[in-house]
Amino acid sequence: MNDLGGHALYLSPKDMQLGRGETIADTARVLSRYVEAIVYRANRSEDMAELARWATVPVINALDNREHPCQIVADLLTLHEHWNGSFKGRRLAWIGDGNNVCNSLLLGCAMVGLEFVGAVPEAYRPPKEVVARGEALARATGAKLSITSSPAEAATGADALYTDVWISMGDEAEAESRTAAFQGFQINKKLLKKAKPDALVLHDLPAHRGLEITDEVMDGPQSVVWEEAENRLHAQKAILEWALPANRGAAR
Ligand code: NVA
Repeated sequence: MNDLGGHALYLSPKDMQLGRGETIADTARVLSRYVEAIVYRANRSEDMAELARWATVPVINALDNREHPCQIVADLLTLHEHWNGSFKGRRLAWIGDGNNVCNSLLLGCAMVGLEFVGAVPEAYRPPKEVVARGEALARATGAKLSITSSPAEAATGADALYTDVWISMGDEAEAESRTAAFQGFQINKKLLKKAKPDALVLHDLPAHRGLEITDEVMDGPQSVVWEEAENRLHAQKAILEWALPANRGAAR
């Protein structure tokens, strides 16, 4: 916001009346009288939807348990830069949890026509509704979309490998069972070798080195993790500029 010439207020849960029992609908109505846009990070996607329903200014989803769309804009920007501005004929393999990042990535790939293959253990697959939405989007762009249980199968011949933590915010109570279920869903040198020789490696961070990704890969020549992190800044500015009411007419 500062780079765009505005300023931002950070409201932590303890700064908000939500913590004292105000409804999300009422908070949405009050905030809408004060600010031009709301960037919200929520534990529950239902809360995100409720805030968006009642706010009269744009609500940008900065992560919830179901989706993480802002991250994916930065990821697609990173790939776009490396692939000379085209996703055509490219395939991305997701290795790990069918979580919020996976869901949004699946949808984002479908929107831009990039093939998405997810390697996800059976019990942690993306929700059926998300896959159905992805399939509908993919029909319009011609993107392919598939899910397998085999990291090796997904990685073979891929143009990009992407992973995320095995235990997302809110999943802490399942740490033990998740750690056991995701053994083998690690991006390491052996898995990377199955991908194209110039395949790129992404991670939305924070990474748990030694679990979902090895140091060797994360710090290796195929990793674009730091560019991806930087692109969060640029992509988020683009999203704000697109969403801010003053720019809406011009940006669309
Ligand atoms: N899947 C992770 C993403 C962190 C940016 C989580 O929800 O914790």
